[in-house]
Amino acid sequence: MQKLEVFGAKKLKGQIYISGSKNASLPILAATLLSRKEITLKNLPKVKDIETMINLLQSLGSITKFEGQSLVVDNSKQKKIFASYNLVKTMRAGILVLGPLLAKFGNAKVSLPGGCAIGTRPVDIHLKALSKLGVKFQILNGYVYANASKGLVGANITFPKISVGATENLIIAACFAKGSTILKNCAIEPEIKDLVNFLIKMGCKIKWIGKRSIKISGVKEVKEISYSVMFDRIEAGTYLIAAALTEGNLQIKNVIPNIIKTELNILKKIGAKIKVSRNKVNIIGKKKIKSLKIKTSPYPGFPTDLQAQIMVLLCKANKKSIIREDIFENRFMHVAELNRMGAQILTKGNKALVKGNINFVPAELMATDLRASVSLVLAALTAKGKSVINRIYHLDRGYENIEKKLKKVGVKIRRIN
Ligand code: EPZ
Repeated sequence: MQKLEVFGAKKLKGQIYISGSKNASLPILAATLLSRKEITLKNLPKVKDIETMINLLQSLGSITKFEGQSLVVDNSKQKKIFASYNLVKTMRAGILVLGPLLAKFGNAKVSLPGGCAIGTRPVDIHLKALSKLGVKFQILNGYVYANASKGLVGANITFPKISVGATENLIIAACFAKGSTILKNCAIEPEIKDLVNFLIKMGCKIKWIGKRSIKISGVKEVKEISYSVMFDRIEAGTYLIAAALTEGNLQIKNVIPNIIKTELNILKKIGAKIKVSRNKVNIIGKKKIKSLKIKTSPYPGFPTDLQAQIMVLLCKANKKSIIREDIFENRFMHVAELNRMGAQILTKGNKALVKGNINFVPAELMATDLRASVSLVLAALTAKGKSVINRIYHLDRGYENIEKKLKKVGVKIRRIN
């Protein structure tokens, strides 16, 4: 298994180009199943989860090929409806093929994703909402057998809880349903807006009719298009935090500042100097980092996917901070490893009390999930000496070329087998 060696402490200086969004690419790749024509996708990040989703599409009969940096997906002969456990188990977003397969064929057999390090990750909201479109389910040996013999019929559905994946699955499923569907209490993450823009460009009839409400009128088929996915706002947030953490001076390029204004406001509150222009953000980290009380919430709140990263920054704050994780039930897996690097973080339920004025010491570390692993890299950037991070396959799921990007801004880092 590969490891990362990181030699801190370093002030990051220079430019970082942000890759395409993993969490926009995954639902958009799944949504290509609606099409019987060629779909060309640009700006897909070269990360493991995207590779896994492409393998899943191939297992369903999609023909995919890279033309330069673009991926061409041809589903003209795609007709399989079985998404196997061995692909879905490594990437929970595999459940996102359920909606398009039901829309196109009226039935599907998709492996339940199972849990992961950050929580049980159920899909009950997806299934209950799909049943309102006329889908009958049977759960057997870890698979969802879904069937809508008369095809999907539009309905009015209010989600009991904000769910990114359930919102995405239902929007895609409703695109071919008879009549129209109104979804209320939707998640409105930018990646969902990107998915909707992609579907509209393909010819789907979709309109936002309220802050968290959307109307989808069924169509019969979609067009051949090419589409470029949005930037990865979590990758951008991670490197912004790295600059604030290391008193660095970074230019983060290929971003839309307005989409990450919550994160930028938080970093200004902590004391970083931020200047934004059309598609880039300049950030200068200051010696004094102010403490914070912060909680994670659905967009436009502070993202749970940056919680581990901001926790590292708050270990360096001038006073104690409090972080409340309101989205996942077990997203403090990084705390034990950070405490082994000298942090003093106490967790009580979904609250973490983070002591400030910490100097991280280098250590041998173990990554547990995607965002926890990058928080270990951040801590290692400020620890004088060599840290080693094991099980970096977690990191490779969602960060493209992380060593290359960090080396370019002055970090001594290398991957060892
Ligand atoms: C998406 O996961 C993201 N993944 C996650 O990013 C992100 O952390 C999460 O949204 C929240 O923003 C992708 O987009 C591929 P949810 P998802 O459904 O859709 C509960 C990363 O690091 N829930 O909004 O699975 C669930 O357990 C990943 O890139 C149900 O109870 O998240 C959680 O507590 C990690 N029943 C909460 O809702 C359901 O049917 C939010 O989950 C569905 C969800």
